[in-house]
Amino acid sequence: MGASAIGLEGILLAMRIGVLTETHPLERRVAVVPALVEAYRKAGFEVFIEAGAGKQAYFGDSAYQQAGAVVLASSAEVLERAEMVLAVRAAGANPDHFEQESALLRAGQILVGLVEPLYRPTSVAQLAERGVTVFALELMPRVARAQNMDVLSTMATIAGYKAVLLAGSLSPRMFPLLMTAAGTLSPSRVFVIGAGVAGLQAMATAKRLGASVEGYDVRPATREQVESVGAKFVELPLEIAQAETAGGYARALEEETLRKQQDLLGEHLVRQEVIICTAAVPGKRAPLLIPKRVVEQMRPGTVIIDLVAEWGGNCELTRPGETIVYRGVTIVGAVNLPATVPTDASLLYSRNLCNFVSHLKKVGMLPELNPDIEDTIAKETLVAYRGQVVHPRVRAALEQ
Ligand code: NAI
Repeated sequence: MGASAIGLEGILLAMRIGVLTETHPLERRVAVVPALVEAYRKAGFEVFIEAGAGKQAYFGDSAYQQAGAVVLASSAEVLERAEMVLAVRAAGANPDHFEQESALLRAGQILVGLVEPLYRPTSVAQLAERGVTVFALELMPRVARAQNMDVLSTMATIAGYKAVLLAGSLSPRMFPLLMTAAGTLSPSRVFVIGAGVAGLQAMATAKRLGASVEGYDVRPATREQVESVGAKFVELPLEIAQAETAGGYARALEEETLRKQQDLLGEHLVRQEVIICTAAVPGKRAPLLIPKRVVEQMRPGTVIIDLVAEWGGNCELTRPGETIVYRGVTIVGAVNLPATVPTDASLLYSRNLCNFVSHLKKVGMLPELNPDIEDTIAKETLVAYRGQVVHPRVRAALEQ
């Protein structure tokens, strides 16, 4: 694959990276911030960016120019030059614009970003057919070595934090204990379902705001982490064999166990004032943990922030991208919260991405792609290559 070229003088020309303005309607992040342009240049890349790409995250074109990037007027001009396109939401992660965008990508071009390879695998297949090489950041293995490239973790941290702020502003109650001459206010009761990255950050944030916080997860191993952020771990008397996969993620539960879990959890949920939902199993519909019958028993004024709205929601009444009020209970189908904190989310996202691209170069995957590479990070994230969907899990998702 001709990713970089030798110039007439025999000097190896830098590989050309392209960054476009994101087109997902809710997206405000940008894949490369000005502070990282120099890091890319030092690593042997030239950065081409569409004018205005950083605007919604408050990074102006002049900052990119000063950092040494080339700012071009249109996405077409960037794509014409770019050998590798760095994106936040592309392919299946930007379904409404996928057709339009994929038509502009050409064979041999490399796309790196969030592409929803397991949830919407057909877009990966379509890109593969066009000869586009795709690296899916969602498939970054959760191993220590890849921690500084793990965009899902950094973005989930932001989402957990923002979910609590949203809940705080929608709740009719304050979070902290307040003692005044006019009387004492008890702390709000906040319950977080799922103690992964987003859940733990939500617990820590709610705790810092003074709420009384409880956390629940199907994996008993999370008890220690829940307690370490100052929350109380809620254990349900459920017998779940092997709740955890070898990769450290939760396993999907059988239907009967799930129903029992809903009932037992419901007894705790009806006593809460704020509920943050983060329970998820990668590539699967989010577990339905709050059926309508439980919402009907909640007190009016309760706020549910459902972070897994896009994956079906933990609450039966969740509608992605919408806020509904059902019998006095507010249910927020939170979508893309990291984009609502665009400056910091872009700083973290682009740092993860830069670490990933530098890693690909270090292990010999760039500028010339090498399919024989044994590196786990490169192998696990490569989903489309030489006209084929090359990732077994994405292939399996295509067959479902
Ligand atoms: P994670 O995998 O670290 O955590 C998910 C947790 O859910 C795990 O600890 C798992 O054990 C638990 N879980 C799974 N099934 C369960 C069940 N039946 N009962 C109780 N707990 C269960 O994932 P992370 O990074 O914390 O993200 C959580 C979700 O939030 C993901 O779906 C992610 O895509 C989503 N997210 C949403 C955003 C938004 O703006 N709405 C932004 C970022 C992430």
